[in-house]
Amino acid sequence: MIKLKVCLLTCAFMIKLSFTMLSTHFKCRGGIYPRSNVERFPVPDEKVIWNSEYKQYQPQNYTEASLYGKPWADPDIGNSNFCPKWNAVDGKVSRVSYMGPYQIINGYPQNPIGRTGICGRGILGRWGPNHAADPVVTRWKRFDSGKIVIDEHNRPILQFVAIKRGDTGEWALPGGMVDPGEKVSATAVREFQEEAINSLVMSEEEKKAWAQKFHEFFNEGEIVYKGYVDDRRNTDNAWMETIAYNFHDDNGTIVGALKLHAGDDAVGVRWVDATPNISLYASHDVILKEVLKKRLT
Ligand code: BGC
Repeated sequence: MIKLKVCLLTCAFMIKLSFTMLSTHFKCRGGIYPRSNVERFPVPDEKVIWNSEYKQYQPQNYTEASLYGKPWADPDIGNSNFCPKWNAVDGKVSRVSYMGPYQIINGYPQNPIGRTGICGRGILGRWGPNHAADPVVTRWKRFDSGKIVIDEHNRPILQFVAIKRGDTGEWALPGGMVDPGEKVSATAVREFQEEAINSLVMSEEEKKAWAQKFHEFFNEGEIVYKGYVDDRRNTDNAWMETIAYNFHDDNGTIVGALKLHAGDDAVGVRWVDATPNISLYASHDVILKEVLKKRLT
């Protein structure tokens, strides 16, 4: 009886574990790896986790040639000048994963979620975790009169700033990679400035005024997500992680007053209604759901 209970509990745990894995490991499996013609080795749902045996698994090894010699990219593992400190802050580069310590197998960091069907670094600069930061800048949708717009469930509509990504054409948060030695919160603000504000038609003077006005607003970010990202660039040995910060303009008088040329795809930046089923780049929809939970409950 006790044995049966233990077995049932273990099964339930495995199902829960693989469900969690699947929910975070979907876009980076199957198909052709971005910017290449390398096909990922098929990884069925039940083979994602490393401890499920997969004897036939033979992923191709791929690292894009353009990465070599780039100052922001690691050299190859095995190169005598490259002695990375895994699971640690290595000089100015954090090789720490938000998912906890990752394994090093035959000298290579192992994706903490599981198989992706490709090994090597792909088009990512770092072996192991590649850190990004994402700003989720929000306001309430309002009529011209200033009154908040209510949806069919009698709830206020939250809007967030989205950009159209040049690489995949998908709508996304205006995030980016953390520079060596940079504070992750500073990356989120810098990326918002670079991707959302600089793409607007503004004079240098206007941009300066903007930067001053919003300085305080961007001091008040709250972490809404920290962890692995299901990004199409992930491989078995290199993957994306992010911290997302919510900056909310409740009165709509600071960032919320920015006219982002709503609907103008040529500008590529706009206020978008945040709905639970919205489809966004990588795990950005998961991040947005966290923000919705926070703002609407
Ligand atoms: C993007 C971030 C994103 C991260 C992980 C970065 O290139 O700029 O917005 O969260 O990749 O997908």
